[in-house]
Amino acid sequence: MNRISNWTPKLDNADGPAYLAIANALAQSIRNGDLIAGDRLPPQRVLAAALGLDFTTVSRGYAEAQRRGLTEARVGQGTYVKPQPTSSTGRASYPAVDMMINHPPRFSDPALETRLWEDIPAALSSRGMEMLMRYQHPAGALHDRTIGTNWLSPRIPDLARERVLVCPGTQSALLVVSMMLARAGDAVCVEALCYPGFLLLAKELGLRLLPVEMDEHGAKPESLDAICRVERPKAFYCTPILHNPTAVTMPLERRVALVEVARRHGLPVIEDDNYWPLFASREYGVESEAKLPTLASLAPERVFYISGLAKCVSPALRIAYLAVPDFTAAERAAVVIRATTSMASPLNAAVASHWVESGIAQSVLEAIRVESHARQLIAQRYLDRELGAPLRQGFHLWLSLPKPWTRGAFAHQLRLGGISVAESDAFAVSDPPEAVRICLGGPETRADLERCLKQITDVLHHHSPSASLVI
Ligand SMILES: Cc1ncc(COP(=O)(O)O)c(C=O)c1O
Repeated sequence: MNRISNWTPKLDNADGPAYLAIANALAQSIRNGDLIAGDRLPPQRVLAAALGLDFTTVSRGYAEAQRRGLTEARVGQGTYVKPQPTSSTGRASYPAVDMMINHPPRFSDPALETRLWEDIPAALSSRGMEMLMRYQHPAGALHDRTIGTNWLSPRIPDLARERVLVCPGTQSALLVVSMMLARAGDAVCVEALCYPGFLLLAKELGLRLLPVEMDEHGAKPESLDAICRVERPKAFYCTPILHNPTAVTMPLERRVALVEVARRHGLPVIEDDNYWPLFASREYGVESEAKLPTLASLAPERVFYISGLAKCVSPALRIAYLAVPDFTAAERAAVVIRATTSMASPLNAAVASHWVESGIAQSVLEAIRVESHARQLIAQRYLDRELGAPLRQGFHLWLSLPKPWTRGAFAHQLRLGGISVAESDAFAVSDPPEAVRICLGGPETRADLERCLKQITDVLHHHSPSASLVI
């Protein structure tokens, strides 16, 4: 039977407009379990009187909650709490806390959340029927390419718009560039630990991956050089900032040395710069590594540069910008985009451009950075000894396991407690080390993260690895 709730939120300390505070409080009550699916909310007039607010304010609050999918209004019956997905991904089959997938962390900024949605209809309709009823150039609409060029300008000075293509996500841009540079059976160099999406596409394309050894500064130039002396790799794929999975950022000397090796061997480089916007500047007491030059700016003639909006704005956008060395490469890239995905969705590209132009993308990025920083501080508190200085940025961690832990036993033990992490096998091109990647964006709130990290450190320090293998 449905419960009739006398829910009356406390709004005394809430920031921002009261209607948003109502919607937020409702979301919080659902998260806490104070309200459950099927509960009927108090009538708007009753709540308005209880809170000393205008009827219209409460009415807007209810409408906002409905827009967020928290409630539904039934004609003549009232407003009811809707069933909620079991996790932020909506996939009930996931373990309770997913620290395996590298989602950006959820931030709490109701005013920004409202801004994200409110102007989209106007931004899309201003493009008119032309956008809706026409195939676009595979490289994207000129306006979206201009926005992409501006977005990348801090990373690649003097970038011409004609060299920038809009792609449906970084993964797709990686596919395009890989198809441009290599064919089945060809060798491609990668960091010995590598973003799994690239491993997957290389397998599908039949590419032979050659692991470049890594140290605490990333890929080792002498290892790349040694490979190039005996093989003829078609490209070198790397992630110089906040490498996935190790979170290592290559210092300047390493970048220069790698570019020098690539130049010497005439080797094209695929630079995956997906995480650069996440670098905070000095205000967090960290020297800004985003000022490190990109490989694309050090060797514009050979670097295929990719940076997407998934980690710094939203993975749902599926928009990434690809900058290629010259106009001929841009024409070729457009052909491969046509052959694979036709074009990035113009609707998504228009939303991305609107968010960038209106400053909303930058606000979301800032919110993600602030939230990531807060989460890294929490992680540092729990894993101080294991992670060491300096404080990491972004939202993933690489945890090397102390002996006698093995990655399998450790991940298994965490799974039993409802936490999933990624074992090194997912990234390893050569022998996987005893390590796991932990994604800080998975837990819903900082309190959830704290609980998970406590559990992780408990397992790390107080569990017997051998006992955990007995199932
Ligand atoms: C290094 C790296 N490149 C690319 C991607 C995929 O980005 P997108 O969602 O834009 O395809 C990820 C996602 O985790 C990543 O870590």
